[in-house]
Amino acid sequence: MTEINQALIKETVSYLKNQGVGAVDFGLILGSGLGELAEEIEGAIRIPYQEIPGFPASTVVGHAGQLVYGNLSGKAVLAMQGRFHYYEGHNMQVVTYPVRIMKALGATSLIVTNAAGGVNLNFEAGDLMAITDHINYMGSNPLIGANLDEFGPRFPDMSQAYDYKYRQLLAQIAQDLKIKLQVGVYMGFSGPSYETPAEIRFVRTVGGDAVGMSTVPEVIVANHSGLRVLGISAITNKAAGMQSELNHEEVVEVTNQLKTKFKALVKQFLAEA
Ligand code: HPA
Repeated sequence: MTEINQALIKETVSYLKNQGVGAVDFGLILGSGLGELAEEIEGAIRIPYQEIPGFPASTVVGHAGQLVYGNLSGKAVLAMQGRFHYYEGHNMQVVTYPVRIMKALGATSLIVTNAAGGVNLNFEAGDLMAITDHINYMGSNPLIGANLDEFGPRFPDMSQAYDYKYRQLLAQIAQDLKIKLQVGVYMGFSGPSYETPAEIRFVRTVGGDAVGMSTVPEVIVANHSGLRVLGISAITNKAAGMQSELNHEEVVEVTNQLKTKFKALVKQFLAEA
């Protein structure tokens, strides 16, 4: 296991600066199939993960696996085209390392996106959901271990993990653009198996509206270091037991259908934020 410490963070940051990465306003984590947004970044500098000190290589289909730095809607963004998942076998400190790097490069905000299963009975495949809060059911926490005091406190507050003003702004923009936007609580499972129908009933009982295998670790680390977070889930399917079966191909297909409105929403958010 790579140990995440100040020396490694410094090494990664100076590597990225040497590649031309400058100050960052917004970090952007683009989930399964949503990476296309990074193709609209102007003056883009692209750096494959495998070339970055401290970064592992991403393994999931539909994830290009690179950082893209540049300008999007007038903001300096550092986008992850593909993310690291806990289920790939990375520990949570590795999964969240890019968020540390965003912060170290000066980011004040993070937009985190994912594909998720809809648990709320009002959700349809193809919906977008603003994440209001999350439930960490992944069985671990990225802050376990020595605290990185330079970034934040030992016991960070998670009372407003997803920035209220950002959610208000997103809702306003969705209305302006006539994009249907659901809101709800994201519950993170480790994966990689999809949930069972019994687990999905459990999710609904405890207050989850959508389920997925990412996002929770990154948002914990973002909060630890004081980043304002906007979270968006692409509801790619009804969760287990609410439709006949689940498969990754369907997730990819529905993501393809909804990515146009997803891109429009995020770009306008960046323009107005
Ligand atoms: N469960 C977990 N993760 C997912 C799902 C799901 O139903 N859909 C897309 N990612």
